Parts: sequence; C-alpha cells; structure tokens
Amino acid sequence: MYDLIVIGAGPGGYEAAAHAGRLGRKVALVEKERIGGACLNVGCIPAKAFLRSSRLCRECREAAAFGVHTGAFSFDLPAVVERKNGIVAALVKGIGDTLQRAGVDVFEGQARLTARDRVQVGGQALQAANILIATGARPAVPPVPGIGSPRVIDSDSAFDLTVVPGRVAIIGAGCIGLEFATFFSDIGSDVAVFEMLPRVASGCDRDVADRLQQCLQRSGVGFHLPCEVLGVDDGTVRFADRAGPDQAYQADLVLNATGRVSVVAGLGLEDAGVDFSAAGIPVTDRGQTNVPGIWACGDVTGEHMLAHAATREGIVAVNNMFGKPDRVRYDAMPAVIYTHPEVAWAGRTEEELKAAAITYGKTVVPMGVSGRFLIENERGSGFLKLLTGATYGEILGVHVVADWSSEFIVAASALIETELGVNQAAEIVFPHPTVSEVLREAIRRARVGGRQP
Ligand code: NAI
Repeated sequence: MYDLIVIGAGPGGYEAAAHAGRLGRKVALVEKERIGGACLNVGCIPAKAFLRSSRLCRECREAAAFGVHTGAFSFDLPAVVERKNGIVAALVKGIGDTLQRAGVDVFEGQARLTARDRVQVGGQALQAANILIATGARPAVPPVPGIGSPRVIDSDSAFDLTVVPGRVAIIGAGCIGLEFATFFSDIGSDVAVFEMLPRVASGCDRDVADRLQQCLQRSGVGFHLPCEVLGVDDGTVRFADRAGPDQAYQADLVLNATGRVSVVAGLGLEDAGVDFSAAGIPVTDRGQTNVPGIWACGDVTGEHMLAHAATREGIVAVNNMFGKPDRVRYDAMPAVIYTHPEVAWAGRTEEELKAAAITYGKTVVPMGVSGRFLIENERGSGFLKLLTGATYGEILGVHVVADWSSEFIVAASALIETELGVNQAAEIVFPHPTVSEVLREAIRRARVGGRQP
C-alpha cells in the first residue's frame, strides 16, 4: 500500500514524487515512455539546446560587429542533435538518481485507474491513499486536411531532424511555432508562419507580441495572419488570407505547432469517477479533482501548459494531500518564449487588467537604458513594460521583449508574489551592469508620489 501513486514522470510528476518521498512517504511513480516527460525529451530542453546552436550561428554572422572575424562556418544538424541527446541523457540520469535518493519506486508501463485508490500497471495492481495524475499533453492535430500526414512533423519529431530544410512552413504562431521560426531562420532556412488569429503569441501582452513579430519579420520570417490553412498536400500548404482565397506555399518541411491537448484517454478516469473532458482534468488551485484522494497537475489539467507550473502544481498537491495547506499563485507565474528576441512576463497583461476593469499605471522603459544590454546586443532593441496598481503601487505585471529577459523575469515574479509596492521595490539593489537593471529603472520611474528625475 502506497501513500501516493504518481502517473507520469514529467516535471509535474517526478518532482511531486521526489517531494513526497523526501517527506518520508511511500511513493510509486509510473511512466509508460521516458522519465522526464515531454519537457526533457521533446520539449523545453531539446528546444533550448537547438536554439543555443542556432544562436551561435547567428552570432557568427554578426561577429564582425563585435570586432571578431570568423571566416567560413557551417551548421551541422546531426552534431546539434547529438549534443542535445547528451544533455537530455545527463538530465534523465540526474532525475533517476534524485528519485532513487528520495526512495521512490519507479514502474515502467501504462497505468490505468481501476478504482479511486487502485492503479493497474501491466500485470501489477498497486494501491494508494492518493493518486496524482500528471500525464501531460501531446501535439494537437486540428481538422485541417493533410495535417496528420507523416510528412508533417510536430514538436515530438522535430528534434531528430538531420537535414537543414531550405523552406519551412510553420502552422501556428504560439510558443512552439515562434521558437522554431527563430531556430530555422537563424540557421538559414526560409520560414513562413501561418496563424489563424490576427496576432502572434496570443497569451502574452499585445504590445510585446507585436514587437516580437516585427523583429522576426526583420530577420526574414514571413507571417500570414490571420489566415486559414485549407490543407497540407505533401510539402504544399494551401491557405487563404487577405492577399487571396487560395494560395500555396511550397515547403521542404511543414511543422504543426497548433497547440497541445491533455492526455486523458486510456487512464480509466471514467472507472474512478474523475471528471474530465478533451480540454483536460479540472482541478482546484490545490490540485484536487472532483474525487477525494485523486489529484492532477501539469498539462493534463489543460490550464497552464508550462513545465515550471506543472512542478509547482505537483508540489502543492503533495503538500495538501499530506496536511500542509498550499496553493498555486498563478498571478505571479512567470512565462518565457525563447525566440530572438526573447519574451518574458509575469503577472497580468494590459488586456487582462482592462477586461477586469482594474485601474493601473503603465511605465515603459526601452532596453537601451541598460549598458549591459547594449554591450550584449549589437543593434538590439526591446522594452520592458511595468504595470502597477492604484492602491500602493503594487506590481501587477511585468512584460519584456528582449534577449536575456528569461534570466531576470523571476525577480518580477518574486515582487508580485511578495506583494511589494514600487516604493519598497525601489530599495532593492540590482547588480551592475546587468540587463535586469531595466526592471530597476522601470520601478524607479513608477514610484508613487511623483516621478523622480
Ligand atoms: P499555443 O497554444 O501556444 O499556440 C498554438 C497557435 O496555433 C495559436 O496561436 C493558435 O491560434 C494557432 N492555431 C491553432 N490551430 C490553427 C490552425 N488550424 N491554423 C493556423 N493556426 C492555428 O501552442 P503551442 O505553440 O503548440 O505550444 C503548446 C503548449 O506548450 C503551450 O501551452 C505553451 O505554453 C507550451 N510551450 C511553452 C513554451 C515555453 O514556455 N517557452 C515553449 C513551447 C511550448
């Protein structure tokens, strides 16, 4: 009899299992494919490994501006894949060691709930007081003729490519589509992005998204939006947009990046009485499903499809199931899109504040105020937008479009989570010279009681 059975070993499941193990609980973790889940094997980590190499490629092209002459260079995709595989293998091993140290029993196989406290894995029947479902999500296949064909790749298969495509069509301008647009554009492919909405990166601040689109366009990425993809036939994407009702883009590679859907099928959720739909398993901010003792975290909930959100949700669920009240602070959750330039944010967007009729102040600071930013980014541009509340200058949102913003957005999350006002935050010392100083400057300019010179 276990205290907890976790189904799915992604960043939601393995972190939760290890946390419960470290609390002295008897824990089983069941995984049908690979430890690490999508994030480690076909998501965050492979994508950032690819983007590191493509950035180097771009930097070689731009090196002369920094006084460095590189000579001829080439991009070796099989070597990039090999490097990525090495990083993934090292991280997977690290997780295995962590789970072992935490005393977690790992089972390989497809788990299925047979009752509210029972899980079947192959021939083994496991029982536990608590079950945490952390089965993640998989690429969505929208009802577009031909998009499900094997010729169309998705983020599950993109990281094993061995040949640099000449022309790439990307369907969907969300996080995955835009990160791949940066990657392929930086390694020299022609890239066209097809998006049904009239904007890119629909979850993030509108001004930030528009600037990102401009920057990507300047680096050669073509955008068709809003557009309707009529079908994909071999390498040809047929689409309709303002320029015409039936156009064609011939590509060497078509990538489907139209979202991810929760993995809820085949888990026996019906047998255990767990509410779910194609959109995922609904949970409270404590991680509870409608069935006492059954919890869920991460992408399977269909809410905040981010690895770090999954990890926090899993830990919160474990704390609550073992008697320590805890909840997820979604209002402070950071998010990053690893494009060039990067986009990072925490807290609410202007659109959300307007929709909720919340009075707010806005301070926009160009990245050029940071000496370090100018040093690191030749001809780089970007801005940081700080949104503050009317009560005491509380920080409601921070939105940045600029490289390196991924590395300091956590400071914005901390300010929001600790409910610091701008006057108090202005006393924090930021290291100099760092790109993060743009946040300090925005806080300084937003101080309540009159703008300071
Ligand atoms: P997404 O939901 O961010 O974007 C999908 C885009 O495809 C949307 O803009 C949508 O309007 C568009 N779309 C859907 N159907 C379409 C159609 N038939 N024709 C044209 N456009 C269509 O999903 P994405 O980028 O696939 O990412 C999946 C999840 O993974 C997201 O929830 C995201 O948060 C997460 N993720 C996070 C990353 C990060 O934190 N850096 C990186 C990659 C993914």
